[in-house]
Amino acid sequence: MLHGKRILLIIGGGIAAFKSLELIRKLREDGAKVTPVLTKAGEQFATPLTVSSLCVDKVYRDLFDLTDEAEMGHIELSRAADLVVVVPATADLLAKMANGMANDLASTVLLATDKPVLVAPAMNVRMWLHPATQRNVATLREDGVSFVGPVEGAMACGEYGPGRMVEARDIQDAITVALADKALKGKRVLVTSGPTHEPIDPVRYIANRSSGTQGTAIAKALQGQGAEVVFVTGPTNIAPPAGVEVVNVETAAEMLSAVEDALPADAAIFAAAVADWHVTSASDSKIKKDINGIPALVLAENSDILATVSQLKEGRPGLVIGFAAETDDVIANATSKRERKGCDWIVANDVSPQTGIMGGDENEVVLISAEGADAWPRMGKTAVAELLASRISLALGGEET
Ligand code: CTP
Repeated sequence: MLHGKRILLIIGGGIAAFKSLELIRKLREDGAKVTPVLTKAGEQFATPLTVSSLCVDKVYRDLFDLTDEAEMGHIELSRAADLVVVVPATADLLAKMANGMANDLASTVLLATDKPVLVAPAMNVRMWLHPATQRNVATLREDGVSFVGPVEGAMACGEYGPGRMVEARDIQDAITVALADKALKGKRVLVTSGPTHEPIDPVRYIANRSSGTQGTAIAKALQGQGAEVVFVTGPTNIAPPAGVEVVNVETAAEMLSAVEDALPADAAIFAAAVADWHVTSASDSKIKKDINGIPALVLAENSDILATVSQLKEGRPGLVIGFAAETDDVIANATSKRERKGCDWIVANDVSPQTGIMGGDENEVVLISAEGADAWPRMGKTAVAELLASRISLALGGEET
């Protein structure tokens, strides 16, 4: 799949550098040529000899090494690759990149390159959450740098939280997608997102705590991979991604008809938290408190949009993905939900209040498919979206998921 692709792999100085060795092996097995650059700090965690043996290439280490300059200058080094990958991307490397510094070989190559750059951050949780790092990450995203991870987990420093680097397999997936160059180009993908509002009267409604953050991030990640995205969203406070076709709806019934209008699509992702019921006795005028006493709300079930689309006889998208918001027995409930509704994958998560997931910035999901359950570590909703978009790209491309 990566046959003939050239990857410039910058290995930064962090304990997660050991995962770069497994990554090199996987990339080479996949047919890629990997040229390594080791930072001074990186050498403390991965020896030049190991890296060079695995890559079967020389290790580039020093900006002022004249032999290297004679063989391949840093400008050429930065341009000869199809993709530049930074593993692990330390806080220091991200800061240098965000500020355009060029005071060693790695940062100089990163500044000089005209190729796409993918980074896999790894650092202590406080360093990752520090406003300076978050500022640098936002700048780099704006500059077009792609991120894979970090995820939440136990760290070598003994702390727990976001900042742990993703696994080599996830970086390999992200590289495959990055090199496929708009892997979803020409694909039409439908995404539902946000809550629905079911009116009680013109000023009151039944809603839920969905913020639309996860669905918006998914739409953005899919668009980033070149998909034509139709984004059907219930009322939220967050802006939809620029450049996607936005269809604003309020109720579950409106969402169903917007979805039907948006088909056909190559894939459909149902991230919306659709209300299960609507109020049949909704009033056209504001219900007054003291006229008829406490009103009785009569509810009726809404059509299940995910099940309707999953079970279409004609025009069913090739890949239909649902979400399962559960509070108990997440895997068992989501597995039976997948079968009951007839979708291909279910992204299941635990939305118990103590997880802080519903309405929060992080998610911890289990991807349920016919092959079983794949539990992902806790990570930012953007990281979940990017990993999911990678899996979708690979699935639509007919590759292993
Ligand atoms: N969904 C939908 N239309 C509905 C209800 C749900 O499309 N009327 C979709 C959601 O977008 C999500 C999935 O179905 O992808 C799961 O929704 P969830 O509320 O978790 O499951 P339910 O089917 O409502 O089951 P339960 O309430 O028993 O958990």
